[in-house]
Amino acid sequence: MCGIFAYLNYLVEKDRREIIKNLLTGLSRLEYRGYDSAGIAIDGESETDVLLFKQVGKVAALKAKIDADTNLNFDKKFMSHVSMAHTRWATHGQPSERNSHPHRSDPKSEFTVVHNGIITNYKELRTLLEKKGYQFESDTDTECIAKLAKYVYDSQKGSKFLSFTNLIKAVCKELEGAFAMLLKSTHYPNEMIATRRGSPLLIGVRTAKKLKVDFVDVEFGAGDITAVSAEPAVKRDQSRAFLSEDGLPQQIEYFLASDPSAIVEHTKRVLYLEDDDIAHINEGELHIHRLRRDDGNQSSFRTIQTLEMELAEIMKGSFDHFMQKEIYEQPESVVNTMRGRVNFEENKVTLGGLKQYLATIRRCRRILFVACGTSFHSCLATRAIFEELTEIPCQGELASDFLDRKTPIFRDDVCVFVSQSGETADTILALRYCLERGALCVGVTNTVGSSISRETQCGIHINAGPEIGVASTKAYTSQYVALILMALQLSEDKISLMERRKQIINDLYELPRYIKETLAIDASLKQLAKDVLHKEKSLLIMGRGYQNATCLEAALKIKEVSYMHSEGILAGELKHGPLALIDENMPVILIMTKDSLYPKVQSALQQVTARKGRPIIICNKDDTGISADFKTIRVPQAVDCLQGILTIIPLQLLSYHLACLNGVDVDFPRNLAKSVTVE
Ligand code: AGP
Ligand code: GLU
Repeated sequence: MCGIFAYLNYLVEKDRREIIKNLLTGLSRLEYRGYDSAGIAIDGESETDVLLFKQVGKVAALKAKIDADTNLNFDKKFMSHVSMAHTRWATHGQPSERNSHPHRSDPKSEFTVVHNGIITNYKELRTLLEKKGYQFESDTDTECIAKLAKYVYDSQKGSKFLSFTNLIKAVCKELEGAFAMLLKSTHYPNEMIATRRGSPLLIGVRTAKKLKVDFVDVEFGAGDITAVSAEPAVKRDQSRAFLSEDGLPQQIEYFLASDPSAIVEHTKRVLYLEDDDIAHINEGELHIHRLRRDDGNQSSFRTIQTLEMELAEIMKGSFDHFMQKEIYEQPESVVNTMRGRVNFEENKVTLGGLKQYLATIRRCRRILFVACGTSFHSCLATRAIFEELTEIPCQGELASDFLDRKTPIFRDDVCVFVSQSGETADTILALRYCLERGALCVGVTNTVGSSISRETQCGIHINAGPEIGVASTKAYTSQYVALILMALQLSEDKISLMERRKQIINDLYELPRYIKETLAIDASLKQLAKDVLHKEKSLLIMGRGYQNATCLEAALKIKEVSYMHSEGILAGELKHGPLALIDENMPVILIMTKDSLYPKVQSALQQVTARKGRPIIICNKDDTGISADFKTIRVPQAVDCLQGILTIIPLQLLSYHLACLNGVDVDFPRNLAKSVTVE
C-alpha cells in the first residue's frame, strides 16, 4: 500500500515553492493508495541539511502545515535538487506524525527513506541496531532501513568502493519482505536511490530535447557488461546519460512514483523498475544496477515506454467522487474492453494476448481463477459460462486461502490471475506459487506494466482506464467482460455452441445501451437509499446462479464504502441457516431476474415473505409477475451470463448513495487502500 513520489531536477532551476508543489500534487494523485498520514523530505539551506515535514491525515493537512511555516523560504532557488514524498497506509505503528514517512537515520537525517511494503525481519534488525546504540524514533518497520544505511556507512567509511549504490545494495541484502523505496543522503548530495522488491515503482523522465535512445541499459557489475549485451557499448553508455540527439548532456527532471497517475501530467516517458533493480540517479544520469548477478534470463535493458493514460482520466471532472465517475463510465469502459477484440458481424472474438496459448488452454485439466475481493467476484460471476462454453472444470480461489491450503497445482493446470491493480500481494504470491509448479499462468489486469502482467506467460488487459476510487466498480464489469471474451474465444471450435455464442455476442453489442438504461434509474436509487435503507443497520442481498456473485460483490461494496453491515446470501442456502435472520424488520434485497433459475428464486421469495420479510426485488423491466406490494428495482434483460453486469450497477449506485448519506469520504473509506501490496 501507500504511495511514494519523488521529484529531481538537474540543471533546471526550480524554487522551493515549485518543488513542494510537485511533491504535494504527486502525493494527491497517489492518495487513494493510502491516506492516514503524509510527509516530504526536501533540502534545507544546503545540500547537507534536510527538512522533513509530516502530518497525520490527508495530503491537504500536510499542505496546510507547510504553507503555515513562516520560517521556510519558499523562493529559494535550486539548480539541482532531490526530494521525496510519501502517503501512508500504516502496517506497523499507528497513523501518527512520529510514524509517518520519510524516516531518518539520525537527527541530522544523514539517510532519509520512504517505503512501501513490509520489512518482515525488522524486529531482528531493530534489536541489532539498538544494541549498536541506534535510537529509534518510530514504531514502524521502515525506520530500520534508514538506520541500517547509516550503520553500513559508518562501518565502511573511507572505503573508496562505498558508492551510494553499493551501500544500498548491502542494505537490501539484509532486508526481507516486500518493498519499494527511495533513499536520499547528505553524504551523497543530489543523488537518489530507488529500488523495489514486490512493490511497484516507475521512473518518469522529462527533457526539453528529444532523447537519443529509448532504453536504459542494466549494469551487471564490472566485467560482465559485454557478456550480457548484444548492444554496441557506446550506445549503451549513452542510454544512462539520456544524451539528447546533439550528444550533449542536458537539463533533466525525474519523477518517481508508485504508479503512473502521479507522473502523467509531467511526462509520458517512463520506465518500470523490476524486482531487485537498484536505480541510481546522479548528475542527471540514471544508472540501473542489479542487486545480485542474475541467472542470465534477465533483460539487459529497461525500455522507456510511452504512457497511454490521459490526464483527464485521473481527474474527477464534474463528478463529486471518483467512485461516482467510474460507475458512470461503465457504458464506455466495457466498450474499451471489447474494442478491437470482437467482430460483431462474424461473431468472432480475438484476444491477441492469448492467441499462442489457446491450444494449451483447451487441452488443460482444469482452470483455476485466483484473485481477491471484487476481482474474485468477477471470477465467480463468469465461472458458470466458462464451464458451459469450454467444458473444462473451473474453480474460483481466493488468493490468500489458496496459498494457506497449499493447493495442489499440476503442469496441465491453467491458472488465471485476475487483478485490477496487478500488484495485489496475495495474488502475486499465488502466481509465483503456480509458476514454480509449472502451470500456465494467465493474467487479467487493468494495469499495463504491473507485476502480474509482467510475470504471467500471457493475458488480457481489461483496458477499463485508471480506476482511482478505492471501491472497484468499472474494473469489475470490465473483468467480467474480459473473462466472457476469453470463454468465447476458447469455445470458437465448438459447432454445437454456435447459437449460444451468437446470443452472447449480440448482447455484448447491446451492453453499453443496457448499462445506460440502468444508470438512468439513479435518482430513484438515491431516494431508496435515503427513505428506506439509510437508517438500517444491516442489509441482506440474496440471489442464486449467475446472481450469486452480484450478491457477494454488492455486499462487499456496501460494507466497504457505507460501513453498513451487509451479507450476500446464496438463495439456495437460505433454508440452511440465514432464514433465521428474517422477520419484518430485516432489510432484504432479492435479485430475481429472468433466467432458468427464476422459479427457484420465486420459492426463496415465498420463504422470505412467509416470515414477514418484505424484500426489495431487483427484476427485469418487463416482469409483470411481481406483486405491487414489493418495491422493485428494474433493469433491462440481457442473456443470463451478462445479466450480472446489469444487476450490480444499481447496487454500486446504492452503496455510493448510502456512503454519501453516512458522510463517508467515499473515495477514501477508512482502513482501506486501493492497492493491497502487503500480505
Ligand atoms: C474492491 O472494491 C476492493 N477495494 C478490493 O476488494 C479489491 O478488489 C481487492 O483488493 C483486489 O484488488 P486487485 O483487483 O487490484 O487485485
Ligand atoms: N510498513 C510501512 C509502515 O507501516 C509502510 C506501509 C505502507 O506501505 O504504507 O509505515
